[in-house]
Amino acid sequence: MKDHQLKEIEAWFERFVATFCAESPSEQRNYALKIDHTYRVRAIMERLAASLDLCPEERTLASAIAICHDVGRFPQYRQYGTFNDATSTNHAALAVQTLNAEGILDGLTDKRRSMLLQAVALHNVFILPGDLDPVVRRFAMLIRDADKLDIWRVMIEYCTSPPEERASAVIWELPDTGVCTIPALEEVMAGRMLNRSFLKTADDFKLLQLSWVFDLNFDESFNILAERGYITTLASLLPPQPGCREAVAAVHDYVRSRVNRQI
Ligand SMILES: [Fe+2]
Repeated sequence: MKDHQLKEIEAWFERFVATFCAESPSEQRNYALKIDHTYRVRAIMERLAASLDLCPEERTLASAIAICHDVGRFPQYRQYGTFNDATSTNHAALAVQTLNAEGILDGLTDKRRSMLLQAVALHNVFILPGDLDPVVRRFAMLIRDADKLDIWRVMIEYCTSPPEERASAVIWELPDTGVCTIPALEEVMAGRMLNRSFLKTADDFKLLQLSWVFDLNFDESFNILAERGYITTLASLLPPQPGCREAVAAVHDYVRSRVNRQI
């Protein structure tokens, strides 16, 4: 992908998001959150791309994927008032649909457009399909890591800000009961990423996010995670209940093993 094509996508994104205006400041925060998230994911994506042997054209494509990955969040929130795909629509599929309808990728070659759309479509699946083209797989892995690395920040900011300043759609509509459920804790202790069927409480959602470390792909992602201390901060937000300490230890052990592997 050429630089001017990336610039066109950037300019389109700015115009596109400006068309989403909510009636109340609290709803508007949800749009603002996703705009900010997109730019931060792009910055992380560029750092990850720089750590790999991508050619300049592939790096440009990686940046474009980052800009496009959550385009579906805007029509999703406008139509359904939630970021919970399970109760609304798959926002990655909606992103693909929106990008096609807007025609913003029409200037790309079929191959580049297909790669970009596949990476966007796959950014939120639980596990990547086994039979993916290796190049597409790498872009999908990149956007999945960059996305997770910024969602950790979003979650921490949500939990540590006063209720009136929170972007309400961050933790979906899960009840804040002050506990994690046992099956969710056991899954994380066993070193497995939680799927959404385990989510019963707001604290399970924090646990789910901690368990994302098991799906992180690149060495540089673990470096960023360690630098930013997200795991320690998120862990401190869990309730003081039996099992939480063991689950967090499993997460820490895994991150440590991945960071040490690089030395
Ligand atoms: Fe997303």
